Amino acid sequence: MTEADVSRGTSGGPAPSPGWTPIAEEAERAARMRHPDRYAMPRPAHRRVLTVANQKGGVGKTTSTVNLAAALALHGVRVLVVDLDPQGNASTALGVDHRAGTPSVYEALLGEISLLEAAVPSTASPDLLCVPATIDLAGAEIELVSMVAREQRLKQALSPDVLDQLDVDYVLIDCPPSLGLLTVNALVAAAEVLIPIQCEYYALEGLGQLLSNIDLVRSHLNTSLHVSTILLTMYDGRTKLADQVTSEVRQHFGGVVLRTVIPRSVKVSEAPGYSQTVLAYDPGSRGSMSYVDAAREIAARGAAMGADSAAGVETNGR
Ligand SMILES: Nc1ncnc2c1ncn2[C@@H]1O[C@H](COP(=O)(O)OP(=O)(O)O)[C@@H](O)[C@H]1O
Ligand SMILES: [Mg+2]
Repeated sequence: MTEADVSRGTSGGPAPSPGWTPIAEEAERAARMRHPDRYAMPRPAHRRVLTVANQKGGVGKTTSTVNLAAALALHGVRVLVVDLDPQGNASTALGVDHRAGTPSVYEALLGEISLLEAAVPSTASPDLLCVPATIDLAGAEIELVSMVAREQRLKQALSPDVLDQLDVDYVLIDCPPSLGLLTVNALVAAAEVLIPIQCEYYALEGLGQLLSNIDLVRSHLNTSLHVSTILLTMYDGRTKLADQVTSEVRQHFGGVVLRTVIPRSVKVSEAPGYSQTVLAYDPGSRGSMSYVDAAREIAARGAAMGADSAAGVETNGR
C-alpha cells in the first residue's frame, strides 16, 4: 500500500461517481472536517465499551483513544473516555485537569466516589466526557491486590446506571502499558478490545501475550470479551517495513483490522503539547482526517451490530 492509498482509499464510502476526481474527494473531506455536525456518525445499536490495550508503550493507545473519541463526539455521538494510565496523558490531551487531588478514576476504583463525580466535559467537545487519571493511580496496581473483587472494580464503577446518567454511546478506556491489574480491570469492564498496532519493527512482539491474557480474562472473568478492532498506527509510507507489517496484520486478523491506517504525522504528536486532540489542533491534517475516517468505520460497525452480535453490551436506554 502506498502513502497515497492510505490517505485516499480509506473512507469506505460508495464507489466514485463518474465525475469523481481525487481533488473532489479531498474537497468533500475538507467540507466534512469544517462542518462535522452535518456529517453525523451513526449511534451504535447498543452502547459499546471498548478497552484500548497493548502492553507495549508508545504504540498509539492514548493518541488513538483521544482522537477517535473526539472524532465520534464531533460527529454527534456521545463518548466517555476513562483514563486508566497514571501518566494521565489522555486527560492532558482532552484538556482535563488531573492534578493530584482531582476526583479521578482512582477514587472511583476504590469505591470512595461514584464515577459520576469524576466525569467532566473535555475541551474537545461537549459530547466528550473524561474521567481523568491522577498520579494516585500509580499506587492502585498494588492497593487493589488486597481488595475484594479486585478485578471487577472498574466494571462496578461503570455500572449501566452510571452510564445511563452520563448518557454516552461509547466508552473508551485508555490502558497503561502493562498487563497488570489496571489493564485486567479494563478487560473485565468492556466487551470489546481495540488494539493499536504500530507499523514498526517488533510490532507483533508481545501481541501473543496480550491475546492470551484476553483469552484468560474471557474464560474466567468476562465471557463476552473479544478483540473487535485493530488499528494500524504510525504508518510511514516511505518504508517497506510499514507495508510488511500492515499486510501481515491483515492476513492474521482479517476483517477485525480497520481499513483506515493512521499515518505517522508530526501534527498528531504536537497536539497533546497544546492540550488538544489533533482534530482541534489541525483539523485538515492527514492525521486528523485519518482519525475521523477510522472513527467513521467504528461507528458504522456499531450501527450494524445486531442484538445477538453485541452479546454482553448493555442496551442504551436513550
Ligand atoms: N500517528 C502518529 N504520528 C506521529 N506521532 C505519533 C502518532 N501516534 C502517536 N504518536 C506519538 O507517539 C508517542 C506514543 O504515543 P501514545 O499514544 O502516547 O502511545 P501509548 O499510549 O501506546 O503509550 C507519543 O509521543 C505520540 O504523540
Ligand atoms: Mg498511553
